[in-house]
Amino acid sequence: MSTPRHANLLQPSPGYGLGLRPQHYADFAASKRDVDWLEIISENFMVDGGKPLQWLDRIRADYPMAMHGVTLSIGGTDPLDLDYLKRLKALAARVDPLWVSDHVCWGGHGGIHAHDLLPLPYTAEAVRHVAPRVRQVQDMLGRRLVLENVSSYVVFRDDEMPEWAFLDALCEEADCLLLLDLNNIHVSAVNHGFDALDFLGGVPLDRVQQVHLAGHTVRDDYLIDTHDAAVADPLWALYREFVARTGGRATMIERDDHIPPLEDLEAELGIARRIGADALKALAA
Ligand SMILES: [Fe+2]
Repeated sequence: MSTPRHANLLQPSPGYGLGLRPQHYADFAASKRDVDWLEIISENFMVDGGKPLQWLDRIRADYPMAMHGVTLSIGGTDPLDLDYLKRLKALAARVDPLWVSDHVCWGGHGGIHAHDLLPLPYTAEAVRHVAPRVRQVQDMLGRRLVLENVSSYVVFRDDEMPEWAFLDALCEEADCLLLLDLNNIHVSAVNHGFDALDFLGGVPLDRVQQVHLAGHTVRDDYLIDTHDAAVADPLWALYREFVARTGGRATMIERDDHIPPLEDLEAELGIARRIGADALKALAA
């Protein structure tokens, strides 16, 4: 493990966290849990008032929070939605988040929203298109944006480079940070036949601010990124390798569907803690 070139770009790791979901608002408000930090879905709280904001303020008093958006469409060709960005900035002023993230994707065209995180063509032209948009968002928010790799099921005929080289080029051009979703890497690796370790070796690990761990659905000859199940075994091996290569970063379990009792997610987070600690112990030995 070498000294990260961009270590000074990263916020210190707050440890092990969970995505905050409405099913657990009352649990988090009732007592302090064995969770170091929480990630909120920004769009759930970009409203003028009401219950969600009351929960947010209550729970924020006890936990550091990161903001995670799903509708920025940083790779789209429609102009960036300035009204959305203003509301995002207002939410950031309220939450004082650890960082603000979204996805390396496009989510619509011509004003029509796909409600999906669609992959980009991995080309130099796409880097030149996306990087200035990232810089525009960063200028507006006054902070570096943290961008997450998405899973995919198809690739573009025009691709000129693997996804990891695209992310590396984008980080260099836009001076942004990364959120590595290890499940998305694994899903895409199986679906497209690449080695997840090549992905880890190709992205600028010194710009990885955060990690998502999640589950997926196995079909006959491909995987679907459902984020609705426990973290699968291949992911734990990949996580151990990630910690060995980086010394560990802010890590969380991301469950978007089939939300289990909070205790189940805390138990899963305990596995992540143990694997992270083991990987660090092995490094020190
Ligand atoms: Fe994710």
